[in-house]
Amino acid sequence: VPVTVYENQQIASKAVAQRIASLIRQKQTKGELAVLGLATGVTPLRVYAELVRLHREEALSFKNVVTFNLDEYYPMLATAQQSYVTFMHENLFNHIDIARNNIHIPDGTLPLEELHAYCMVYERKIEQLGGLDLQILGIGRTGHIGFNEPGSAPNSGTRLVTLNDLTRRDASRDFGGKENVPTKAITMGIGTIFKAREIILMAWNGKKAPIIKKAVEGEISSEVPATYLQLSDNVEFVLDKDAASELT
Ligand code: F6R
Repeated sequence: VPVTVYENQQIASKAVAQRIASLIRQKQTKGELAVLGLATGVTPLRVYAELVRLHREEALSFKNVVTFNLDEYYPMLATAQQSYVTFMHENLFNHIDIARNNIHIPDGTLPLEELHAYCMVYERKIEQLGGLDLQILGIGRTGHIGFNEPGSAPNSGTRLVTLNDLTRRDASRDFGGKENVPTKAITMGIGTIFKAREIILMAWNGKKAPIIKKAVEGEISSEVPATYLQLSDNVEFVLDKDAASELT
């Protein structure tokens, strides 16, 4: 698996933002849409900040951009502070010229019996747009990508999943206690992510070093879903020195 290690998170994030920007501009010259798969969490924050800067200071337009977010807690009101809808608007969408209709984030408000059909439609929308050009990923300490926790199948699609205890513990600060973190989420599947033409997994911080070692060098197994990325020809791990510190 190709791994690029940067001195720090800032430099790495700028490099990833540049790649996103050049994809968007390349598509613009061809009169095409750029279809992006996006992640939430602390990892992509500086990438989004840099994209906002490129919009403000270097006239990068997002008018030809369509986005699909990886996941959302379930149940979750879009208006809640912890929702990924709120996260994406506060950190990116409110500050750029993307068309509101081009934003897709799994809907955490639907009744349970409507979820299956909704997830099928989410997949179909991605396909109808020609698939994801670029998928951005973080990684959880369980080895999850999106919210595909250990046990997820490599061909899984968008679906309702149960969150791991460690994942809920890691989210407890945002919710004021683990007991307030939803037990479920809607996530794109490993199969959905895999179909992207380009995948960039980012990780910063020594806290991620053990799971990065497993993801990059460990045996491919559903116990660490990120190991499935070893099977892709289109993936790159973008790390800071600390996240890469346990790689041999
Ligand atoms: C978020 C997502 C998750 C996070 C992962 C890491 O949309 O899909 O897989 O990328 O939990 O979270 P952070 O970046 O907060 O360490």
